[in-house]
Amino acid sequence: MSIDTVELEDAEAALSAPAMLEVKDLVVRYGHGRKAASAPAAVDGVNFTIRPGETVGLVGESGSGKSTIGKAILGLQKVSGGSVSFQGSDITHANSSRRQELGGELRAVFQDPNSSLNPRKTIGASLAEPLRVRGVAAAEARSRAEDMLERVGLPREAVDRYPSQFSGGQRQRISVARALICEPKLVVCDEAVSALDLSTQAQVLNLLADLRDERGLSYLFIAHDISVVQFLAQRVVVLYRGQIMETGPAAAVTESPKHPFTQALVAASPVPRPAEQAERRKLRESLGVRTAAAVAASAGGCPFSQRCPLATDLCTTERPALRSVGQSGVACHYA
Ligand SMILES: Nc1ncnc2c1ncn2[C@@H]1O[C@H](COP(=O)(O)OP(=O)(O)O)[C@@H](O)[C@H]1O
Ligand code: SF4
Ligand SMILES: [Mg+2]
Repeated sequence: MSIDTVELEDAEAALSAPAMLEVKDLVVRYGHGRKAASAPAAVDGVNFTIRPGETVGLVGESGSGKSTIGKAILGLQKVSGGSVSFQGSDITHANSSRRQELGGELRAVFQDPNSSLNPRKTIGASLAEPLRVRGVAAAEARSRAEDMLERVGLPREAVDRYPSQFSGGQRQRISVARALICEPKLVVCDEAVSALDLSTQAQVLNLLADLRDERGLSYLFIAHDISVVQFLAQRVVVLYRGQIMETGPAAAVTESPKHPFTQALVAASPVPRPAEQAERRKLRESLGVRTAAAVAASAGGCPFSQRCPLATDLCTTERPALRSVGQSGVACHYA
């Protein structure tokens, strides 16, 4: 059998395998009871799947509902409608014992490492914790913590130190180690590198990519900066006010975006070279897109209509469905 045949069979097997994660018609409203029923949806009918070994990037401006989707998947936020399935089983309203079972397979890395590292506990104790609750003996947990620290580029002796003895980038490596020590299948990374400077960001992104390739992990990689998402993701979902505007292969969405909002997002993403940055600024101005703060939410129609330079009367009355354009899905009447 040639290498090509093997690769083709692998690709076919991946496509026919059950999804690692399936999010269907997800709706989340904040608040309780009647208040929630009348609240605007923070997440409004979102659909996407993540295949085994695949990284899906979720991108959008601040407040677009990215973290809410992450929290709904992790069971940290109540779901108002739709469903979340993990490896074929419905976990939308999983109870705490089912969530505990899932805790080893479905893990998270957040922007602030302090949310997963207790400042009063040694690194070793923080890393051992998820193993200990799964019945791993203390000595074994410590040795796995040392191995994991080494894997993320830190000395084994770090087990006996405290979070305050490390830099922000090192603490984020430790958070990655803590998320991966139980050998999860899916990791939700919510703005996991957003607080780091550019060179540290690149190191942590490379680490995440290496670990994914070694372990066949799936990621939901959430960030407001599309250039960060582009580095890791095979597919990208673009969110605006809780709704999907565009979705498709990462290269198609980031290099030839079809939705006016995605075009604005790409033009707004920072680039290291000043000349390119100036070009981006010109492009941004030529697009004529207003900032989120400048407009109120659209009552009906396209959620982007109040900011969109191409908006017509149709856009303010009729919500565009997500339809196929090339390899992508785009929610725009005129894409
Ligand atoms: N705990 C909460 N209570 C009420 N509203 C919230 C809460 N968390 C987030 N929101 C609202 O939900 C929307 C989406 O927020 P979020 O998911 O945090 O967006 P993102 O992660 O894309 O910045 C925002 O309008 C935000 O104000
Ligand atoms: S549907 Fe209309 S308002 Fe919405 S993005 Fe397309 S052109 Fe702009
Ligand atoms: Mg967020």
